[in-house]
Amino acid sequence: MSDPLRLGIAGLGTVGAGVVRILQENSTIISRRAGRDIRISAVSARERTKPRGIDISGYAWEHDPVALALRSDVDVHIELIGGEAGAAKDSVEAAISTGKNVVTANKAMLAVHGQKIAELAELAGCVLRFEAAVAGGIPVIKALSESMAADRIIRVMGVMNGTCNYILTRMEETGLAYGEIFREAESLGYLEADPNLDVGGIDAGHKLALLTSIAFGTRVDFAGLEIEGIQKITIEDIEQARDMGFRIKLLGVARMTDDGMEQRMQPCLVPADSPIGQIKNATNIVVLEGAAAGQIFLRGAGAGEGPTAMAVLGDVVDIARGRRISTFGQPATSLQPSRPAQSAEVGPYYLRLLLEDRPGVLATVASALGDAGVSINRMRQYGHESEAAPVIIVTHRTTRNRINTAIEGIVGSGASLSDPVALRIEEL
Ligand code: HSE
Repeated sequence: MSDPLRLGIAGLGTVGAGVVRILQENSTIISRRAGRDIRISAVSARERTKPRGIDISGYAWEHDPVALALRSDVDVHIELIGGEAGAAKDSVEAAISTGKNVVTANKAMLAVHGQKIAELAELAGCVLRFEAAVAGGIPVIKALSESMAADRIIRVMGVMNGTCNYILTRMEETGLAYGEIFREAESLGYLEADPNLDVGGIDAGHKLALLTSIAFGTRVDFAGLEIEGIQKITIEDIEQARDMGFRIKLLGVARMTDDGMEQRMQPCLVPADSPIGQIKNATNIVVLEGAAAGQIFLRGAGAGEGPTAMAVLGDVVDIARGRRISTFGQPATSLQPSRPAQSAEVGPYYLRLLLEDRPGVLATVASALGDAGVSINRMRQYGHESEAAPVIIVTHRTTRNRINTAIEGIVGSGASLSDPVALRIEEL
């Protein structure tokens, strides 16, 4: 058997503690599969004595993750601190500077600094893996960069934030408003320390940006993403969507269009009986669509100790086996600059309007849509007691720009009593 592979683990939160636990519990099967022992040399976290339900007494302790990354008895730096920059990035760069391989679960760092870090790693001859950064335990990075390496990718889609999917599912099940279910999710500990990372679509956007790079051979371009969170989704939207056979999901979509790279993370309507429409609570789903392979659906736990730690250790075993793969599936220097194209692909849209109930208002709305070149597919006005008439419109396929122009026209006409809601209907 070869020499043991020696790990330094930076960050002993849920995922870090899970990595230690699985490694301790499964050491025999992991060593057999890896062809060598995998051992922890040293760990680092904010607090040494915090109860974690794991025994770390056999490992050296470092307060500073950079010092951990520089230790001579560490071959692989496992970065589980999180955060776009700071100690996480410093420790990863320190590890690479001394020729160490890196495994990380840090989507924010890679979405923003991934190109630079990948170039550094490849220049230093280091492997940088991040399966746990996208959709927790779902092996989507491997599927895309290895299994589908020969295919031309057409589209990548995913429900990749369990917290948002939990909130949307519970709103539909209970009929309760967003705010109430948000508080429920908070009390269950589902939300990130900064909840906007979840409900604002940022966390899921980070994940999509990483998948886009691998799928289309482009530099990670998080800034080029169109991001919209779920905060404005009302119970009315969820119920109207359900009445028309749809469910609302925070859906990420990336595809190369004639105008450039379209990357969207936004609430969308999807058919309720589709695999994406069927995803409930905190479960994640990723759809990889290749010209040759067709659609591949991967679903499972997108967060949590076991799934995420398992993904980290899968990367470690790959490194122990000597597998070498470029960070984003091809040399970082060969990735093309991304040319962002905002909502270039046409699609149907759902519009929810609250209109003044007076003669001619519907004609005004129809004119505004017609003037913008938007054709109506279905339209409903709901029964109401007050002077405000709720109207739902489903359009034929059109662009977001045309929808925006139509909305400007509707609002400008004074017909609308509240901000119109426009959601894309994703064709699967
Ligand atoms: N907060 C994320 C989620 C998990 O709710 O899916 C970490 O990315």
